[in-house]
Amino acid sequence: MKAVAVFPDTKQVKVITDHPEPKISAPTDVKLRMIDVGVCGTDKEIVRFDYGTPPPGSPYLVIGHESLGEVIETGSAVQKFKKGDLAVVMVRRPCDHPDCVACRAGRQDFCYTGDFTERGIKGRHGFMTEYVVDDQKYMNLVPAELRDLAVLVEPLTIAQKAVEQLWQVQSRLPWGLPGGPDKAGRYMHKALVLGAGPVGLLGAMTLVKAGFATWVYSKNPVPSPQSDFCKSIGATFLAADSTSVADAAGIIGNIDLVYEAVGASSLAFEVIRVLGTNGVFIFTGVPGRKAPIQVDTDVLMRDFVLKNQIFYGTVNAGKQAFEDAISDLAEFRRRWPDAVPRLITGRFKIEQAIDLLTGKVDGIKNVVSLR
Ligand code: BGC
Ligand code: ZN
Repeated sequence: MKAVAVFPDTKQVKVITDHPEPKISAPTDVKLRMIDVGVCGTDKEIVRFDYGTPPPGSPYLVIGHESLGEVIETGSAVQKFKKGDLAVVMVRRPCDHPDCVACRAGRQDFCYTGDFTERGIKGRHGFMTEYVVDDQKYMNLVPAELRDLAVLVEPLTIAQKAVEQLWQVQSRLPWGLPGGPDKAGRYMHKALVLGAGPVGLLGAMTLVKAGFATWVYSKNPVPSPQSDFCKSIGATFLAADSTSVADAAGIIGNIDLVYEAVGASSLAFEVIRVLGTNGVFIFTGVPGRKAPIQVDTDVLMRDFVLKNQIFYGTVNAGKQAFEDAISDLAEFRRRWPDAVPRLITGRFKIEQAIDLLTGKVDGIKNVVSLR
């Protein structure tokens, strides 16, 4: 069958036609015919050979980890899925170390050993192909009404996992959180999203829905599809070209939350300087290696302490984040029916995947469609 394959040894990316079709081999396996596979920054890094590992013994890695498929066959013990159902497959698989408590608890997104695998990224083939088989426990049922959008579920899980942890962290503030039953309004309620790519915009929707007044700071101009999108979901777009980080802080006031979705450490550390009292800074981006920059560590450390600030990075996502992403996506569409579909800016044939992966096509989220 067809698949988009990356060959790290010879530095090639090709659409191959002889990738073996996977078969149901365990009673709990589910076989999918792929419908949509999204392209993200990680895929582009893999295609630049900065990242990405083929499965043991294979000269190539089939890329793709943001997916939607339709169930075409199920193993004898599968009850959760039937033919015709839609499913999104999780990305990460546990390591085998008996003492990795995270993996043993089914939370391989917190794996300690680093020996986890990831479909389409590290040690396992991905989803940019015609058929995929996996265990039902890694599959999430998607309602039929989300068929055109559900390829956004995986990138949305990043925000879901981030916010899941945010509620835990900010439960330290005893007066209630936005969206909570005793919504406090004035405190813990202003969020700044850095970046207006898919992770940033999906994060902005998640935060608006969670009750935050939300600003999005981005390099994109005004007007642009990104600035229009922010406007339509009730977030305020701040163009980096005309608004400095200090200006942004002046406009917003006490910044309770920064959701970083650009992967540029220089911007992140500039924005850390304006994080508010009791503020939380969430990193989701993976920066490429650039030249070191200077930061005034005394100023930063003073603020960390004197303002009770918390910083955390978050990667990948567990089962709950997938389930929350599926229900939030449905809710986003109910709230913003015209905006949400505009996140998917193009659907392309598998033969065009290389152009998407090498960054030759603009847009927010571009998708390889096998419909
Ligand atoms: C994926 C995650 C993955 C991470 C690191 C991201 O693009 O969405 O599932 O864990 O890359 O490999
Ligand atoms: Zn990704």
